[in-house]
Amino acid sequence: MQTTPRRVTIHTLRQMKEKGERIAMLTAYDATFARLLDEAGADVLLVGDSLGMVVQGHDTTLPVTLDEIAYHIRAVVRGARRAHVVGDMPFMSYQASIEQGISNAGKLMKEGGCHSVKLEGGAQHAELVRRLVGAGIPVMGHVGLTPQSFHQLGGFKVQGRDPGGRERLMEDAKALEEAGCYSVVLEAIPADIAREITATLSVPTIGIGAGTGCDGQVLVSYDMLGMDETFKPRFVRRYATLGQTIKDAVSHYVADVRTGAFPSDAESFSVAENKATPTAIEPGFYSTAGKK
Ligand code: KIV
Repeated sequence: MQTTPRRVTIHTLRQMKEKGERIAMLTAYDATFARLLDEAGADVLLVGDSLGMVVQGHDTTLPVTLDEIAYHIRAVVRGARRAHVVGDMPFMSYQASIEQGISNAGKLMKEGGCHSVKLEGGAQHAELVRRLVGAGIPVMGHVGLTPQSFHQLGGFKVQGRDPGGRERLMEDAKALEEAGCYSVVLEAIPADIAREITATLSVPTIGIGAGTGCDGQVLVSYDMLGMDETFKPRFVRRYATLGQTIKDAVSHYVADVRTGAFPSDAESFSVAENKATPTAIEPGFYSTAGKK
């Protein structure tokens, strides 16, 4: 019998930092991937607005809507049994006002079913974080390269190297912790700055392109699985080359269909066989990702 694993909570993550256990976080956008990443031991699954780039094919994360994030959260929550599921607040879902941010974060929790939300930016969002936490919504912060500010930053660039950059990053991270964030993502910043922030904060830091000194790491799952053979920034380690594996499998399938090698008789149904074994097609005709 399958037992339900204990869900990772924001308290588990805090304890992991205290015990010096590193946190493994990945992005997920659908139930099948969520199940696989969860079963393989990922502690946190982020339904990131990176879905705008890797799923929807946009050049930036800016076009992603709140409804789209909520839709993908619902799928991921169905697939994940143990991992903590974080819903990313998309561009312009919290920047206009605190009320807008509270109402939209509430929507992701209520309609999506995620366990916490993430938002980009530092001290300027401290009051929003305070109000969200006061309303019972756990918040993960995100400083450094904040892709929603792509145009403001002038591209996807390493942050914190300019004069005063180190101090600004530290102040932002501290402001988020003081406001109540349970964790802070540090994206694309020099490793020594990330290490210093990690040593200063009591909440866990999760790095992406931020070196070895963070309490945990996050990667976009499509990147670490090598789905796009043309995309390999320095901070990504490829643990598989699924893009090539998928293309090899599909070209094999296409060849088999063309030659008639697929399907075989064993992969077909006959009237006689169905009578003998009436339950042959069960329980569902297709596999279901969120088998609980
Ligand atoms: O949207 C996303 O995937 C993210 C991670 C890269 C941290 O924000």
